[in-house]
Amino acid sequence: MNKPTDCFVLSNGVEIPCVGFGTWKAENGAQAKQAVLDALNAGYVHIDTAEDYGNEQSVGDAIKESGIARDKLFVTSKLQNRFHNYHLALGAFEETMYKLQLDYLDLFLIHWPNPIFFRDHWQQANAGAWKAMEELYKAGKIRAIGISNFLPRHIEELMKTAEIAPMVNQIRLCPGETQDELVDYCRERDIVLEAYSPFGHGDVFGDNTLQSIADTYGKSVAQVCVRWSLQRGYLPLPKSVTVNRINENIDVFDFELTAKDMDTISHLPGYGGFHTNPDLTNF
Ligand SMILES: NC(=O)c1ccc[n+]([C@@H]2O[C@H](COP(=O)([O-])OP(=O)(O)OC[C@H]3O[C@@H](n4cnc5c(N)ncnc54)[C@H](OP(=O)(O)O)[C@@H]3O)[C@@H](O)[C@H]2O)c1
Repeated sequence: MNKPTDCFVLSNGVEIPCVGFGTWKAENGAQAKQAVLDALNAGYVHIDTAEDYGNEQSVGDAIKESGIARDKLFVTSKLQNRFHNYHLALGAFEETMYKLQLDYLDLFLIHWPNPIFFRDHWQQANAGAWKAMEELYKAGKIRAIGISNFLPRHIEELMKTAEIAPMVNQIRLCPGETQDELVDYCRERDIVLEAYSPFGHGDVFGDNTLQSIADTYGKSVAQVCVRWSLQRGYLPLPKSVTVNRINENIDVFDFELTAKDMDTISHLPGYGGFHTNPDLTNF
């Protein structure tokens, strides 16, 4: 990948730009709108939001105000945890599209495999939601469908009733958290891995090893993290609401981490935190 518009190719042939702009915790209203405008201005062409982030309206406002042609952008949203059944998922998708003010979505993901609301019948709940997403996909309202936070057992279960296999799994991948078994499982099935929390939700910035690696390249810790993600073959989703950081985080195409530094970063002892067990959460 040499620029933010370079793409991974999904199993259905759809191209997905190699860096996505994260928007979790970007507050709906002026903050999220300005952050997305700044991101589009910086050259991001891929925006990651979710119904659960509560900011789809502002993301949509920013896209509209940017004036950028719809087909030059890649927009992802996610099905909220309360809507895991066929009819609820169809309704939730309509709401997402209304807020985003778009007439098609590039990628729609099931946000969480096992929400607390459906914990005693999550398999059936996911099957219903996926059926709705398959129909929306076949109707041309979504260009690609996928999952997030799914472990192999959740994917195996989904595939018992799925007609169409997920094209993306969005999971926590950051320095020290590489989820190798899950990544291998997805790669064997041609599922692209999106790396959420590439800065460990902000926790990697105090790490001295990362800082000294960054210093050797004359780059920032954030740039090293995004670069590491790309060189691992993940699709990173860096988030910021700070304009200079938004610019910095995408300026990662003019250096290459050595194999030794890649390995050191992969094995950092967990400064970026680890993924949550999706079967044990209270949401
Ligand atoms: N599917 C899921 O379940 C899931 C879960 C988590 C995240 N995600 C997606 O992945 C995206 C990224 O993950 P994340 O939001 O958890 O966190 P992240 O991108 O790992 O880190 C964001 C934090 O780092 C700070 N930051 C960003 N760039 C920086 C820089 N250059 N220097 C110093 N600090 C910097 C941000 O501060 P400021 O914003 O104040 O600048 C913010 O506090 C999310 O926004 C979301 O789109 C998905």
